[in-house]
Amino acid sequence: MRELDGNETDTPSLSLRCAVVGRGRLGPALAAALTRAGHRVEGPLGRGEHPATATDVTLLCVPDGEIGTAAAELPPGLLVGHCSGALGLEALAGHEALGLHPLMTVTAEGADFAGSACAVAGSTPRALAVARGLAASLHMRPFEIADEDRAAYHAAASVASNFLVTVEAAAERLAATAGADRDLLVPLVRATVENWAALGAERALTGPVARGDEATVARQRAAVADRAPELLDLWDALARATRELARPEVPA
Ligand SMILES: NC(=O)c1ccc[n+]([C@@H]2O[C@H](COP(=O)([O-])OP(=O)(O)OC[C@H]3O[C@@H](n4cnc5c(N)ncnc54)[C@H](OP(=O)(O)O)[C@@H]3O)[C@@H](O)[C@H]2O)c1
Repeated sequence: MRELDGNETDTPSLSLRCAVVGRGRLGPALAAALTRAGHRVEGPLGRGEHPATATDVTLLCVPDGEIGTAAAELPPGLLVGHCSGALGLEALAGHEALGLHPLMTVTAEGADFAGSACAVAGSTPRALAVARGLAASLHMRPFEIADEDRAAYHAAASVASNFLVTVEAAAERLAATAGADRDLLVPLVRATVENWAALGAERALTGPVARGDEATVARQRAAVADRAPELLDLWDALARATRELARPEVPA
């Protein structure tokens, strides 16, 4: 491995021998991106396949609950990383350990990591430098997060990405009851996300709740109750949270 002294960070020219374990969503996408970035990549490896001994770093792209098991299958003393947002490095006990969590959604179709943030961690200065170097080589922005803050950080990521998809799925279902295709919603969703990014939540918020038009909100709620009653709990929770955002001084 090219020696890193722990001060050398954000190193896009770094070239390492990387093994990637896990053939789900992240493993193939990360292996392809690392290859494009000039690293020598082995994998993505499946269950029971072990990286070559000359590997500089082994990156586990397996579910959080499997990280300890997958790490225990590796010979001790290797530099091993996981890609979990929620877990600290304790899951990799017995190894020099790093964390590399791309703050990006990766589907079976892959992902573009460039420009995204990446939570990095290292059990040694060298491991941290490798994590920073790998992130930078993929043109991600590395940042450190304390172990005790990880669960909250990962919860924020789930709200921002996963729960957003759940909300859009509910919108799709309601639109379908009115004969409106999901494609009609796409420009609205894109503009809303861009407005939130550019303006912040308070200024991005529009619509009947923001206007205080409660008669319209009541008509909308009645339509939800009629067309998709399974969505009423979600509707009520979101309407309450939206009122709090629009008028934080008024109890919901
Ligand atoms: N997807 C994302 O958007 C994303 C983004 C950032 C970080 N991550 C992190 O990446 C990690 C993997 O997530 P994912 O979304 O890629 O999960 P996933 O799509 O469910 O894929 C996990 C893969 O790991 C394999 N696996 C499980 N145990 C294994 C073991 N002991 N040895 C080798 N392979 C094993 C699974 O194989 P089987 O099918 O045989 O079980 C599956 O192919 C998680 O820590 C997650 O937090 C994911």
